[in-house]
This record gives sequence, structure tokens and C-alpha cells, in this order.
Amino acid sequence: MQLRKLLRYGYRSLTGEPHEKRDFSFYVMNQLAKWLDMRIYNKHTNWQDDRDFLAVMRRFDPRYPRIKERQFFLYNLARSLRHLPGETAECGALGGASSHVIMSAFEDDRPHHIFDSFSGLSEPTEHDKPETTEVRALQAGEFASPLEATRRNLAEHPHAVFYKGWIPERFDEVADKQFCLVSVDVDFYEPTRDSVLFFFPRLVAGGALVCDDYGFSTCPGAKKAMDEAAESLGRKVIHVPTGQGLILK
Ligand SMILES: C[S@@+](CC[C@H](N)C(=O)[O-])C[C@H]1O[C@@H](n2cnc3c(N)ncnc32)[C@H](O)[C@@H]1O
Repeated sequence: MQLRKLLRYGYRSLTGEPHEKRDFSFYVMNQLAKWLDMRIYNKHTNWQDDRDFLAVMRRFDPRYPRIKERQFFLYNLARSLRHLPGETAECGALGGASSHVIMSAFEDDRPHHIFDSFSGLSEPTEHDKPETTEVRALQAGEFASPLEATRRNLAEHPHAVFYKGWIPERFDEVADKQFCLVSVDVDFYEPTRDSVLFFFPRLVAGGALVCDDYGFSTCPGAKKAMDEAAESLGRKVIHVPTGQGLILK
């Protein structure tokens, strides 16, 4: 049955309408993905081809190959919050890609606060152990990138403010500020918990906190921290299919 379908699609891709060639490629790739217990995106979504977003990312990295779904989602989320007052922040910036996404989306000079050890991940707790050994456990010290490199990468954004140190050591320096968007991307339980509990009360009405690691089997502690914090704040996490989790104010 599958073979007949494959032959029929294959024949049509050679003789039929232009879209049939694409349909055939998609069919073959989809079957292969299913066989490997994976999946590929719907062939009719068009976010992958968003030229404006690609241009934004090529400013950050001229060799940026193709749109990454989490960055695309973050960009659209940030753009939808531009009308709000309040500043923006990121906990866990590494080389600065998602901070670039946020500041490019806002297109104004409101301060963007960046908190990072610039020495990589902190120590994991027992909550950070993946459920199965088929998933690699992240280690302390991974994702280390020097502050100066991130500063250089974000040179086009003079309103970026850097706070080097272990979360939450330097949070008190922004304790009197209000935020409309906070991105949390620190992978493990403790810094995710500390970031959410500090920043959520400082979000303006309509603001959002997004956790980049929420739906990843490599980061069970981030999910636990978000769920517990949301519960204590009387909120539910919105789990989006990119793997991100959001809490709205
Ligand atoms: C996965 S990377 C972030 C990726 C980044 N958002 C991007 O756009 O590429 C995680 C970052 O969190 C930082 N980090 C992890 N745990 C931390 C902690 N406890 N305190 C401060 N920074 C931390 C690491 O140094 C690293 O830069």
C-alpha cells in the first residue's frame, strides 16, 4: 500500500503540477521521520520564510542559516508587547542571540537588563536529572561565553545593561524597576525558580515571562520551577509547541 502510494507520488512529481514535486519530497521526508520516531513541520507553514526576521538575525550573525522557531516566537511575543510600559530583561544570555531578538523587536531605547554568570550553567540539583538515561544530563559550566564577546555581539544595542554574576546575586540592582517582558533561559531548577519569583511581581499588567527551556527533556528542573512558581502566583503556564513556557501577568 505504502509502496503504491510512493510510486504514484513519485510518478506525479515527475509529470504533474509544480507543487507535486514538493509534495513528493515532503512525503518521503515525512515517512523517514516517522520511521525514526521524529516529525517534521507541516509543509504549508510559512514562518520559516519570514524575510524580515531573517534580516534581523543576519544583523546578529551574517551566516545565520535558517529561522529557529524559539527565536521567531520570542520576536513575535516581544513585538506584541511593544505598546506596554516597562523595561525588558533576560536571565541567561550566552552570546546574546535572544537578547538581540528582544531589543530588535522593541526597536526603541528602553533598557534591556542581562543577567548571566558568563561562566556557564550553575550546579544542577536532583530536580535537574533527566527522567531517562537516553537524554543527556547537562553539566555545570556548559554554555560558558565571556562577557566581552556578548557585549561585542550586542554592540548595536547601546541600551543593553550587563550584570555578571550568579543568579540571583545582582537582582537587587533592578528591584525598583518594572518589566514588560522577561526571558528566562538558565536551564536548571534553582536559577529558573529565583528568576521567576523575582521578576513576575515586577511585570506590568499585560506583561509576559517566557522560559525557553520549559518543554525540554534536558531541563526537567526548569519545568518544575515554572510550574511551582505559577501555582504559587495563581497562574498556569502556557506550554507552546516550540518548547517554551509562558506566564502572563
Ligand atoms: C542556554 S544558555 C542561554 C542561551 C541564550 N538565551 C541565547 O540566546 O543563546 C544558558 C545561559 O545561562 C547562564 N546561566 C546558567 N545558570 C546560571 C546561573 N545560576 N546564574 C547566572 N547565569 C546562569 C549560562 O552562563 C548561559 O549563558
